[in-house]
Amino acid sequence: MSRNSIEYLRGLREKALLGGGLERIEDQHKKGKLTARERLAILLDEGSFEELDMFAEHRTSDFGLDKQKYLGDGVVTGTGTISGRLVCVFSQDFTVFGGSLSEVHAEKIAKVMDMAMKVGCPVIGLNDSGGARIQEGVVSLGGYAGIFLRNTLASGVVPQISAVMGPCAGGAVYSPAITDFTLMVKETSYMFVTGPNVVKTVTHEEVTAEDLGGAVTHASRSGVAHFACENEVECLQKIRDLLAFFPSNNLDDPPVVTSTDDSDRRDPELDSIVPENPNKPYDMKQVIARVVDGGGFLEVHEQYAGNIVVGFARLAGKAVGIVANQPAILAGVLDIDASRKGARFVRFCDAFNIPLVVFEDVPGFLPGTDQEWRGIITNGAKLLYAFCEATVPRLTVITRKAYGGAYDVMNSKHIRGDINFAWPGAEIAVMGPKGAAGIIFKREIESAPDKEKALSQKESEYREKFANPYLAASRGYIDAVIEPSETRPRLIRALERLGNKVDGNPKKKHGNIPL
Ligand code: HXC
Repeated sequence: MSRNSIEYLRGLREKALLGGGLERIEDQHKKGKLTARERLAILLDEGSFEELDMFAEHRTSDFGLDKQKYLGDGVVTGTGTISGRLVCVFSQDFTVFGGSLSEVHAEKIAKVMDMAMKVGCPVIGLNDSGGARIQEGVVSLGGYAGIFLRNTLASGVVPQISAVMGPCAGGAVYSPAITDFTLMVKETSYMFVTGPNVVKTVTHEEVTAEDLGGAVTHASRSGVAHFACENEVECLQKIRDLLAFFPSNNLDDPPVVTSTDDSDRRDPELDSIVPENPNKPYDMKQVIARVVDGGGFLEVHEQYAGNIVVGFARLAGKAVGIVANQPAILAGVLDIDASRKGARFVRFCDAFNIPLVVFEDVPGFLPGTDQEWRGIITNGAKLLYAFCEATVPRLTVITRKAYGGAYDVMNSKHIRGDINFAWPGAEIAVMGPKGAAGIIFKREIESAPDKEKALSQKESEYREKFANPYLAASRGYIDAVIEPSETRPRLIRALERLGNKVDGNPKKKHGNIPL
C-alpha cells in the first residue's frame, strides 16, 4: 500500500467530516443547532461509532447538481453503542442540501434499518431535513416510501426512536410518526404536514412555525411528540435514558440493573396519601415515586393528557411500564386523549416484553357531546383493546375509585390482569354512590319529606354495601386487598412470581384495533 493511497483516504475522510463545509457548519451553530456528527458524538458511547457509506454521493446531474457533490450526501449513518448496547443510527446533515433526502440518502438510511432488523437492535433517527431533495423529484419520494415501509415492518420488532432536531415537513413527518417515540427540541425543531405559508393560503390562518408544529405544540396539544426537550443535549440524553428500559428487540428481555432500593421497603406515608374525602384529589405521581426503585420515573407524554400518567420505572431492578390514572387532573377521568395515550404506551410495552403496572383511580369515561361526537367510544376502545391483547405480566393496584366501564378497561382481572390488588379504601362499583343511589332509590327519595337527607342516607347505604373492595375480593376479581404501605413489596413479589409467565393470543394475521 503506497503512502499516497493512505493519505488520499485520509483526505477524503477529512472532507467527509466537514459535510457541507465550515460556513454552513457555522450557520448551523448560529441557529442554536449542533451538526449531525456532533449529535452522534453525544448520543453514542465515546469512540463507539462505526460509520457506513461515508463516501456515498448523489447520482443526479439535473439543475447543475453534478457540480455539487458532498461525501455522505446529507446523512451520517452507522452503528454504535449506548451504555454498551448496539444501536443503528442515522443523523441528517442539514449542512448538505439542507439535509434533504435524495435517493442515495434514503438508501443509506434503509441500509442501517435493514441491518437493525437482521441483528435485532434499536434504530435511532436524528431528523434535520428540508424534506424531499427537490432536484430529484419522484425518486426522492420513492426513497421516503422505502423508509416508511421499513419503519412499519420494524414496528414491534426493534424499538425505533426519532428525534426531530430541525425542520421535518410534508410527508417526511410520517417516519417519526410510525416510530415508537418522538422527541423534539424547543425553538429549533418543527413538524407539520403543511407549513405556515400553505396554511395561510388554504385556511387564512396566521400562525408561526413554532405554534403550528413546534416542540411544545406537539408535546402538549397534538401528542405527536412524546418529549419536548429544552435543548439538543437534553434530547440526546433522554434517548439514552429511554433505551435503558428497552430490550434490543422483541425476542429479548429488558436489561436488569442492580437496585439499591430494598425490595421489602414499606412506605407508611402511603397509608394516608388518599384523602378521606373521595372527591379530593391527590397526586398519583407521588404514589408512583414512593413505590418504584429510588423514586425514579421516566415519564412519557408528560405534557399531554395529564389525566393519565405513563412512563418507565424499575421494581427490584426490572423495567416496568406504568399506567396510572391521575386524580389531580380532571379527577383522573378517561377521555379520548388519555385513552389514545395509554393505548399506545401499553402496546409498546407489550411488544417489547416490559411488564405493566397499573395504578387505578378512575371515576369513569368523560361525558359530553364533545367527547361523544369525537368518538370516545372508538378511542376508549383502543385502551381496552390494548390491555386485552397484552400478554406481558400485568399488575393492578386500585388505590381508590374503579367505576363502570373504566374498571373493566384499566387492566381488570377479567381482561387478563395477572395480579390485581386493591387498597382497603377502594371503591369498585358500577358508578359512584351518589349517582347509583339517585337511580335505584329514585322513588323512595322523591317521596321522602327531606329529599337531600334521603339521598345522602341512600348514598351511604350504597357506599357501605358496594363502594369497597370486598365484594370484588369475594368474587376473586381482586386477588388481595393490601395495605397501601406494603404496595412495593407486594408488587415486586408478584412480578417475581410472574417471571416465567407465558400467555398468547389466537393465531391471526393481525387484529383490527379500533383506529
Ligand atoms: C434541496 C434543499 C431543500 C430541499 C433546503 N435545501 N431544502 N435542497 N431540496 N428540499 C437547501 C437550500 O437550497 C440551501 O442550500 C440549504 O438547503 C439550506 O436551506 P435554507 O433555505 O438556506 O435554510 P433555512 O433558511 O434554514 O430554511 C430551511 C427550510 C427551507 C425551511 C427547510 O430550506 C425550505 O423551505 N426548504 C424546502 C422545504 C420543502 O418544501 N421541501 C419539500 C417538501 S415536500 P445552500 O446551497 O444555499 O446551502 C416533501 C415531501 C416528502 O418533503 C414526501 C414524502 C412522502
